Amino acid sequence: MERRFFFRAMASGVLAARLSPLVENVYGASLFQPDISENNPVKRFGDGRDWFFENRFGMFVHWGLYAIPAWHEQHQYRGRVERAEYAKLTAQFNPKKFEPERWLDLLQETGMRYLCFTTKHIDGFCMWDTRQTKFNVMNTPYKRDILGMLAEACHKRNIPLCLYYSIDDGNHPNYPSEGRHHEIPPQPGDSPDWDKYLEFLKAQVRELCTNYGKIHGFWWDANVPEYKDTSINDMIRQLQPDAVINNRGFDDGDFGTPERDFERDESVSFNRPTEACQAVGMESWGYRADEDYYTDRHLIRSIDRYLCRDANYLLNVGPMADGTVSQENVDILKRIGRWYHSVKESFEDVKHVPQMTTNRNVALTRRGQTLYVHINKEPQGNSVKLPPMVTLPKSAVLLNDGRKVETIANLTPADHVSQWPVLRLRNLPANEMANTVMVVKLVFDSSIK
Ligand code: GLC
Repeated sequence: MERRFFFRAMASGVLAARLSPLVENVYGASLFQPDISENNPVKRFGDGRDWFFENRFGMFVHWGLYAIPAWHEQHQYRGRVERAEYAKLTAQFNPKKFEPERWLDLLQETGMRYLCFTTKHIDGFCMWDTRQTKFNVMNTPYKRDILGMLAEACHKRNIPLCLYYSIDDGNHPNYPSEGRHHEIPPQPGDSPDWDKYLEFLKAQVRELCTNYGKIHGFWWDANVPEYKDTSINDMIRQLQPDAVINNRGFDDGDFGTPERDFERDESVSFNRPTEACQAVGMESWGYRADEDYYTDRHLIRSIDRYLCRDANYLLNVGPMADGTVSQENVDILKRIGRWYHSVKESFEDVKHVPQMTTNRNVALTRRGQTLYVHINKEPQGNSVKLPPMVTLPKSAVLLNDGRKVETIANLTPADHVSQWPVLRLRNLPANEMANTVMVVKLVFDSSIK
């Protein structure tokens, strides 16, 4: 018998059975539990907020006055611009080419399922027709309720809409601007009064949760004073019961918001609903004319790592001052979208099953007898081992392009100490696909061992 077939026979049969207790000792019996449902620690809400778990990939949009200087969404703060000077930008805000439908086309083409939009960033400029301050889009040459236009377009396509809102406010005289992080220093005409500011904020939140139809989420940011008050989220829940609320507001909310990949352990599952966020640009979330961009590989790996682990992912673009998304941003999303569409079944209705292999260079997701192997760290070579698995799948396909993947279970020289054969995925196009995440779909006949 040819050596390779000899080992294949050993792996799927006699030897595998004989070595099984040894392997259980080495890797721990839990690896072999066919039912891995207990490894899904993220509890669903059990109410209308569960839309969040069914629509995992979303588009974040940072857009406001700051698109005009085209440098950073915190232009006022990071550029040390006086409030009065910054406010002059309103005279130039006239995004004649803004067509919400085009944004939504891009969102859907990328495979995204929901939108999170900056209604007010830390500069305090409001992208809706608010009665609470004049510093809003109606007092610009454009004079149209941008949020209203966007909400209407989202509702028409049944795209869940979430609202970003900054607590820090560089325009409001009652907000206590003290020059803390993300805060401008005190400005002429200020009259800091936190209680009054909170009244203003609550009135704005009420408008946002009342005037734009169904809202699916509230995305707080920049609670610089670290103020706690559960009554504000209570109000949102009363007005918009299906809205998921993030953890950057006045209490812990519904979900965590890891940002730009600042994460310690990439292999762990999350124990509460989570939505990671990331921008396509390396420094800014708003449009930056001379932005430096992440590689497709960096973004794709990041998206894969979170979606594998039952987390949501918001990928951000910053439209330009004219209301369109730059070609560079569009091209990035199109490339990400091509990858996402090819592998998305590996994120849908699956469980993250890190315990099934000791190989930490891959992530595994599973639906019944189908296992998805996400090769989301550098493949050092064209083969991937999945210790301690030895069962050969009945089929193995590379989702990225549909090609068949060679599988074998045998003893490799590196494993001579344990003498344990191992399932290997061979001849992967690792050089050709060095800039993406390969996902291999394995379908097994019987229980996976
Ligand atoms: C960062 C940026 C902020 C942006 C946010 C989105 O915290 O500083 O401007 O809105 O990310 O998550």
